[in-house]
Amino acid sequence: MPEKRMRVGVLISGGGTNLQAIIDASRAGRLDADVAVVIANHEGAYGLERARKAHIPAVWLDRAAYDTFSAYNHAIRLAFEEHEVDLVVMAGYMRLLGTEVLNAFPNRVLNIHPALLPSFPGSSGIRDAWDYGVKIAGVTVHFANEKFDEGPIIAQEAVSIEPDDTIETFEAKIHEAEYRLYPQVIQWMARGRVVIEGRGTTILPQSAGR
Ligand code: GRF
Repeated sequence: MPEKRMRVGVLISGGGTNLQAIIDASRAGRLDADVAVVIANHEGAYGLERARKAHIPAVWLDRAAYDTFSAYNHAIRLAFEEHEVDLVVMAGYMRLLGTEVLNAFPNRVLNIHPALLPSFPGSSGIRDAWDYGVKIAGVTVHFANEKFDEGPIIAQEAVSIEPDDTIETFEAKIHEAEYRLYPQVIQWMARGRVVIEGRGTTILPQSAGR
């Protein structure tokens, strides 16, 4: 019997290029996982269009239609449960996630941030690292919690800033690193290779996963 493939629910707010990298990795056979549903908090998020093009259910949940943050997050949880999601992946989702979702998927909610956390958290990590003048920047994939960019770190990839870089070339290098690292971590999750203990995480060797 083939192993069951992991079902990933992706949360987005915008363009969805990370979502696209995950879909592409899955379809190319690089992931033991499929994107089961994409949820956006903006109706016009281009990532929803990417999902539709890939024949993946695309759901817009309008925060304004819910009285409370809690009710909104409950709706997100229900949508993920309806699509039998195993892992929640935040990919450019620019809001906090409520405990309604976090508690339903313990240690099963990931976020990606375009900086080496804990440096440069927040919504302009790339610009902030550039303006600060760092020589080594990078990307972080971490477990999400109820704070922004704060949960246990799973993986980081460094990106050097070279003298001939511009903010544009730097940004492109950051995104390239994201498109490599996020599918990689999702595959580790699919193989059961990510162990978490407190704030510490360990990636088990390939042979130790399932
Ligand atoms: C990415 O840089 C991600 O790290 C950040 O928001 C951006 C989303 O881009 N949280 P996209 O929607 O995946 O193109």
